[in-house]
Amino acid sequence: MVKMVYAVAAAVIITALIVGPAVWYVTRPPPEDVVEIYHWWTSGGEKAAIDALVSVFEDKYPGVFVKQTPVAGGAGYVMKALMKSLVLAGEAPDAFQMHAGYEGKPYFEAEYLEPITDLWVAEGWKDVIPDVVEAMVKFDGEYYSVPVNIHRVNVVWYNKDVLQDHAIDPATLTTWDAFFTACDKLVAEGHTHPIALGDIGKWADTHVLEQIIAGEGIAFYEKWVNGKVTSATDTTLVHALNTFKTYLGYVNPDHAALTWDQATARVITGEAAFNVMGDWANGEFIVPAVGKVYGTDYGTFPTPGTAGMYGLCIDCFQHPAGVAHPANSLNWIRVVGSKEGQDAFNPKKGSIPARTDADITKYGPYQKAAINDFRNATYMYPSVAHGSGAPETFTAELDDIMSAFVTDKDVSAAATALTAATTAASADYTTDWSLD
Ligand code: BGC
Repeated sequence: MVKMVYAVAAAVIITALIVGPAVWYVTRPPPEDVVEIYHWWTSGGEKAAIDALVSVFEDKYPGVFVKQTPVAGGAGYVMKALMKSLVLAGEAPDAFQMHAGYEGKPYFEAEYLEPITDLWVAEGWKDVIPDVVEAMVKFDGEYYSVPVNIHRVNVVWYNKDVLQDHAIDPATLTTWDAFFTACDKLVAEGHTHPIALGDIGKWADTHVLEQIIAGEGIAFYEKWVNGKVTSATDTTLVHALNTFKTYLGYVNPDHAALTWDQATARVITGEAAFNVMGDWANGEFIVPAVGKVYGTDYGTFPTPGTAGMYGLCIDCFQHPAGVAHPANSLNWIRVVGSKEGQDAFNPKKGSIPARTDADITKYGPYQKAAINDFRNATYMYPSVAHGSGAPETFTAELDDIMSAFVTDKDVSAAATALTAATTAASADYTTDWSLD
């Protein structure tokens, strides 16, 4: 009898061991219940933001797992090259982070993206996405991506205590001359490197030059993005490069070893006074582990000469052709473009939503001010450093040219290299930007 009980118990256990995995195997989420996305959001604020967006998706589509592949490297300097090779090899993920504007063009031309015009219509995005942004996600009249945010690039971040301690009024720093005078004061009073720069990956150099070029006036910026600055002796270009040269006199000597967020961290701690960066930097100040308060601990002003201007860096996702999970890919894009998705992502990211119907109460004070500035901007301009404003054949050269300049500070060599790169890419300047 006892033997029999043991035998039955053993049979039950063995059956359970066999049936359990078999049931799991049959009822497990099918492989298509995955959406694989690539992005380069790895800093504290960036990670918090993408995780919030993923949560919105997973709540809406329970059972579909978002497989994130984050590729470290600010502004996508690592991921962009990796993505090209994946897409070329026919291994595009279901969606990937991409800037609006020129950055999508090579993919569109090689027919690696499918139009999502139907989705734009069905979701009513046209009614809630500003025209200036909408125009940047279309090729040949069809929509190819949807924006998740709008970043402002022409921002100086400052540590409030540092400026107060040195009696510097940020409201007066509206020209580069005034800004450099403030830097001189900080240096004289012991702040040897008042400007934080972190240019691992080189793009942060281009980012600064771009804002200096914008500070030369919208007409010059327009000329630049339309590929019309082709003379190495162009006085405005030379002036901009000289301003950048002066700027470099105030940056931390270890800049080449720092990432963008490590440079922002120096403003957070007060080691540096200023950092020129897009408003993803806001995410670093407000991430709970840091917990700084805009207006109390830190502040911002437009990079000198750009008051009333809004430099645009816009992150998008798209629907690549032939992906492994097409329905999930489209659902991911749906969430990216949704009010709920944008209102979960952007408050943490630091940016403002691409949608005009966002719930403003969800946003912090910097973003409330930025939403207002965006609505009232006199001029908007597409970032070149962040893929939108100029063709890739030009931008591929740009970071190397600027990085060389940061080392040799040779204005004439940089002007020659920049204008030669523009001329070499002349056939690719197909967008006729009209910015003023
Ligand atoms: C992206 C932002 C990102 C930043 C730093 C920019 O190019 O648009 O989303 O936070 O790079 O990585």
